[in-house]
Amino acid sequence: KIILEERIDGIEASYIALSDGSVAIPMATSQDHKRIYDDDKGPNTGGMGAYSPTAVIDDSMAEKIQNDIINKTVNSMKKENIPFKGFLYAGVMLKDGKQYVLEFNVRMGDPECQPIMMRMNSDLYEYVNACVDGNLSKMPSISWKKETAVCVVLASKGYPDSYPKNEEIFGLDFKDKNSFVFHAGTKRDDGRVLTNGGRVLGVTAIGDTLESAISNAYSRSEKISWQSKYYRKDIGKKGLAYL
Ligand code: GLY
Repeated sequence: KIILEERIDGIEASYIALSDGSVAIPMATSQDHKRIYDDDKGPNTGGMGAYSPTAVIDDSMAEKIQNDIINKTVNSMKKENIPFKGFLYAGVMLKDGKQYVLEFNVRMGDPECQPIMMRMNSDLYEYVNACVDGNLSKMPSISWKKETAVCVVLASKGYPDSYPKNEEIFGLDFKDKNSFVFHAGTKRDDGRVLTNGGRVLGVTAIGDTLESAISNAYSRSEKISWQSKYYRKDIGKKGLAYL
């Protein structure tokens, strides 16, 4: 038997905060693309691409999520003597100005982490250290680059079901100042880099606007190749409608 309590449709986004057990400070907002195919079609994956910040979460929505979801969770856990330290990730569905929690993760989120890290000016170590020591309330707000960052996940054809492994990846030695390639499902083999997972690389680029970040991320992604490479062609596009 299945009991359906409520169907929540709307726009999904990610809100991640860092907590030291007493207070929680927000990371930059972001939006994932969970389905395997363009236009959010096909089965869910771990995430095929993300961008930060997202206009889907405006300042007033960010405040609501921070106060009504994150702070309440952190305060309640402290009260129950199970203080939570670390990254708290709320996957939220937004509908008619209201926020609904779909899931909590206790980590930064992949691939949201990649564009968020590309935009962080402050030193992550200092914040993680303050989190461990319970000193987050003494830290200044995190400083973020004004630019937008986009991460395109390069996967192996067949993911999220079965996919080939051990294919040689080419084009990794190219470097430019706007982009960074995060490795996920790869391994080294005698000087070569081979695929070793479904989601293989997170190609992340920064740009003055969402549009230019998209363009930079795709131009870097196109320079990388392997036999079964697959990626979505519309990462970030749904964010353009909210600008
Ligand atoms: N991108 C979703 C997650 O990390 O769970």
